Amino acid sequence: MRVICSILLFAVPVFSNAENPSGDVKPVKALVDGRLHEPVRELVLEFQRARGRRVEASFIAVEKLRQRMDKDRPDIGIWISEAHHRRDEMGKALDARVICRQASPPAPVLAACLSENPGAKAFYDFLDDAVAQAVWGKWDFRVAMETDAEAYNRFVEEKLRATYPLTAMRMLGECGIRRGICIDVGSGGGQLDIELAKLSQLKIIGLDIDPEMVDIARKNVRSAGLEGRISFVVGDVHKMPFADNFADMIVSRGALPFFDDKKKALLEVYRVLKPSGVAFLGGRYLYTPRRYVIGTEDLRTIVRKTGIPDAEVIEARGQWVKIRGPEAPRQGQFVGGMPMVARRAIVDYGIRAGKCLVIGRAFTGLEMELAKVSELDTTAMYPSEQAVEGGSAKVNESGLSQRIGFSVGEPETMTFAEETFDLVVSVGALPFWKDKEEALRQIYRVLRPGGAALLGGRYLYMPPGRRISSDALRQTARQTGIAKIRVIDDMGQWVEIRK
Ligand SMILES: C[S@@+](CC[C@H](N)C(=O)[O-])C[C@H]1O[C@@H](n2cnc3c(N)ncnc32)[C@H](O)[C@@H]1O
Repeated sequence: MRVICSILLFAVPVFSNAENPSGDVKPVKALVDGRLHEPVRELVLEFQRARGRRVEASFIAVEKLRQRMDKDRPDIGIWISEAHHRRDEMGKALDARVICRQASPPAPVLAACLSENPGAKAFYDFLDDAVAQAVWGKWDFRVAMETDAEAYNRFVEEKLRATYPLTAMRMLGECGIRRGICIDVGSGGGQLDIELAKLSQLKIIGLDIDPEMVDIARKNVRSAGLEGRISFVVGDVHKMPFADNFADMIVSRGALPFFDDKKKALLEVYRVLKPSGVAFLGGRYLYTPRRYVIGTEDLRTIVRKTGIPDAEVIEARGQWVKIRGPEAPRQGQFVGGMPMVARRAIVDYGIRAGKCLVIGRAFTGLEMELAKVSELDTTAMYPSEQAVEGGSAKVNESGLSQRIGFSVGEPETMTFAEETFDLVVSVGALPFWKDKEEALRQIYRVLRPGGAALLGGRYLYMPPGRRISSDALRQTARQTGIAKIRVIDDMGQWVEIRK
């Protein structure tokens, strides 16, 4: 892709009166995003040739464009939108008479015709003209993916979709809140909201400044059948349309860098948050244009300046701001992958009390995470005495030994009585079971009616020779004859058994 880099920092009138064939009294003054220097130059030449009118184009760095638009009041402004929401924002700020988006060529080029100058109107119309399209067509603009709501949604669905359940789990874990009202600021296509709804009993409100994005989010939520749980509001985080102390939880993913005044936005979040509420806002910003992303130390300074008493910047799997209301629960904190699995098992099956069996190779912390987020009494079964010793030492240190016991064994030969456990969870061990079919049958045997088993992992570091394909695993699962057994390829590979 060609990168257009001809940004001129100063306004440069490129077409003089001498070039003007028409004799128009008033030239059209155009203020142009500097990255469009070459294509707009060509456009203007074409326009002058075709319509015989004079245009004075001044090219300026995009960061200064808005300010200069306000100050200089050109007849027309042309820019590539850096983020789709700015199209509206700029339009409003400039009181533009017309805002257009050129869908073709691919970059959404925005042109606002601001004045009553007839030449400006003609030039604006020309931008939609076939001649202009032909000129534009040869330019290949590099624009960030979020230039366009539809394109952003497509990008999320194609590239990021699998990450949202994890982000939702993390947010629920960090906030330690499962019910009440949750606001998602900068909610985009609503994918996060769908996952939050699936994992909790929260009533979710997505807030986004871009009405087009909100329309898309509503569609996505309807397709997921969750419109009873999730609604959307068009609005600006800097002036949130909610009463004080309204939300139990406020989250945001991937949007903070786009908030113009982060201090103001965070103060708004704090105003809307209940004293018992927790907010968690941030992201990994892997695809966010670098110029938006703010350094962690700068963000810490901004957070300090808000004066919010319990607010911190967390740099772990991304950059996050966590705000706790003065009466918020203390326990919510993200630790790593096992808490997610624990929450997934508990939230998916709604089993919070009773007996749980964890089958592992050695201590991973899963049993402790299960104990933290539920009332379950857990037995951890490892294949060797040594593994059990290591595990019980860790559990003793944690003070959870009352609720976690240990046993040496393998699932194929385990001797627990029939219908002992409400929940069986295993992470990273299944590929090691020598007779998987028998292991699954035994797990089913020890499950109580109404119970569930979740067995699998992501196997990121497991040698390919050790792994089993999902098709082979499905075949094994079928051979067990268990009625409710399935293999799920979602954030890893999991066997789910319901009894
Ligand atoms: C990169 S997208 C992230 C969307 C969504 N959170 C996700 O994870 O897919 C950023 C979103 O923030 C929204 N946004 C930007 N500035 C905003 C503001 N001031 N108030 C509310 N939403 C805003 C944009 O319209 C966009 O939908």
